[in-house]
Amino acid sequence: MPACETDVLVVGAGPAGLTASALLAAQGVRAVTITKYPGTAHSPRAHITNQRTMEVFRDLGIEDAVRDVAVPNELMGDNVWATSFAGQELARLKTWGSGTARHADYAAASPSAMCNIPQHILEPVLRAGAERHGADLRFSTELVRISQTPDAVHAVVLDRETGAEQEIVARYVIGADGGRSTVADQLGFEFDGESGLGRAANVWLEADLARYTAHRPGTLYWMCQPGNDYWVGSGTFICVKPWTEWVMLFMYDPAEGAPDLSPDAVRERASTIIGDPDVEVRIKAVSEWQINHLVARSYRRGRVFLAGDAAHRHPPANGLGTNTSVQDAFNLAWKLASVVRGEAGEALLDTYDAERQPVGKQVVDRAMRSVEDMRPISQAFGFRPGQSTEEGWRSLAGLAADTPEGQARRAELRAAVELQNYQFNAHGVELGQRYASAAVASDGAPWPIPARDAELYYQATTHPGARLPHAWLEHAGTPVSTVDITGHGRFTVLTGIGGQDWLDAAGKLATEFGLDLAARQIGLGCDYTDPLGDWERVREISERGCLLVRPDHHVAWRSAGLADDPAGVLREVLRQVLAR
Ligand code: FDA
Repeated sequence: MPACETDVLVVGAGPAGLTASALLAAQGVRAVTITKYPGTAHSPRAHITNQRTMEVFRDLGIEDAVRDVAVPNELMGDNVWATSFAGQELARLKTWGSGTARHADYAAASPSAMCNIPQHILEPVLRAGAERHGADLRFSTELVRISQTPDAVHAVVLDRETGAEQEIVARYVIGADGGRSTVADQLGFEFDGESGLGRAANVWLEADLARYTAHRPGTLYWMCQPGNDYWVGSGTFICVKPWTEWVMLFMYDPAEGAPDLSPDAVRERASTIIGDPDVEVRIKAVSEWQINHLVARSYRRGRVFLAGDAAHRHPPANGLGTNTSVQDAFNLAWKLASVVRGEAGEALLDTYDAERQPVGKQVVDRAMRSVEDMRPISQAFGFRPGQSTEEGWRSLAGLAADTPEGQARRAELRAAVELQNYQFNAHGVELGQRYASAAVASDGAPWPIPARDAELYYQATTHPGARLPHAWLEHAGTPVSTVDITGHGRFTVLTGIGGQDWLDAAGKLATEFGLDLAARQIGLGCDYTDPLGDWERVREISERGCLLVRPDHHVAWRSAGLADDPAGVLREVLRQVLAR
């Protein structure tokens, strides 16, 4: 069996694997990425792409390419509950920061806006980005066996076109092979949680619904009719292309038998949900998935790391599937690159588990709770298990009654819809991930007390472990974000007027550590100016202070002011963070 040697083998070319592949290639790491399928995703699947993920794409230089093919932010905002597209609208919520109450929070927090990009449209852009950096991507190549020794990982892969097997020997492996991960199974990763909590069907279809959607543009349309009270109601339409292409998603309880998923049956279901017999429905594909609530207890075993759905499996609520997968890769890629290049000690790799496993746990719990939190909506509509269709419609009619009971029902509905902010405007969950590990050096200060609900609201802070706050700066007459002048595979020192000693120390330590260490000065008359004072408001250090920012934009360490021996303290911090 011919053998191939590489530094990193990435198993899987979904959002996690392709992002890892692109980042490793951009950092010049010798890596091979394999996927068992002949191409990228062939159906829409995940689609909500949050600001943090867009920042990763921005770092990779593909943000504009993603935006060019995505449904823009302006067409994402309205979340509609109705009896059918042609029927009565029952409730609406402004989502993803599009409402006036939340828009400024989202705009202030990131240089990147959210977008709606289905996976089969996103993945080719990610693939092109990876290939532009020279990534070695191998399609129709399936991992069949994997084992590891203290020195290497041995993978046997099957070329599904020729039937030939090959051994790949890698120093490290990223198991980004999705919810049925061979890597996790064969290497004995353990999971906490439950699987098979319900099942769902995705029906990809074409139907021109412009007359029912263009005036209330959104990503999700929840259709609720009596007799379909199971979790999300009769069916949710997810916008793939405004306003002609959709995924109709519905959940069902397998204990009550599988629904008829034949093309005729799903077309009829879609027509009932649309409620207008003149709208033609063309079915493109039907697929099924199950609701899981699982997270790997540890993301690392020896030389192998799990990323994406391989590590965390949860319902699509909060739209965190692809986002968390991309963000896992962003955390792991620079660490692997640093270790492979000899800039960091092996122990740096432990911090991937320490930082991302708690995020995975938070995400699966949040997504599961958000699905549970949808039940009060159908209860407020008056839908109850076992009621007849007529009873259901009568009960729904009571929602609009001019009676004390009707009033109470409407208040109940409004509260149930407000609860959905934890799914659709959970800015703190989307952007506020914070790390505690050996790759973060404490400055002794406590985390700031959240001024508002930490799940709903992102709170900018430069506390070590937090994502670097975004602020618009100016450089040579061009607006540039703090996110743009950090990242790109390197560490960055940020300081202000009077911080020249930090800049000198950074130059000295870059040579001493053999490290790509950038240094930027922000302030009046500096290379980067802060014309609106945005940076001054969020930096939480004095002008002469210093932030050390990691390649993934997270703050590694900070100093409130100038130190007596800037090179000395920075040296100690770099030693800790890089495990040297
Ligand atoms: P992903 O599953 O995308 O990719 C896995 C990769 O591993 C693929 O490239 C595959 O070929 C490869 N692979 C697997 N086994 C392999 C092996 N043995 N050898 C080589 N390669 C192997 N989420 C959401 O938020 N909203 C939604 O509506 C949906 N809908 C949905 C529908 C369907 C049908 C699926 C399958 C999934 C969803 N999801 C979803 C989940 C969402 O797609 C998921 O969270 C992300 O794709 C996760 O990205 P990953 O890169 O981790 O895995």
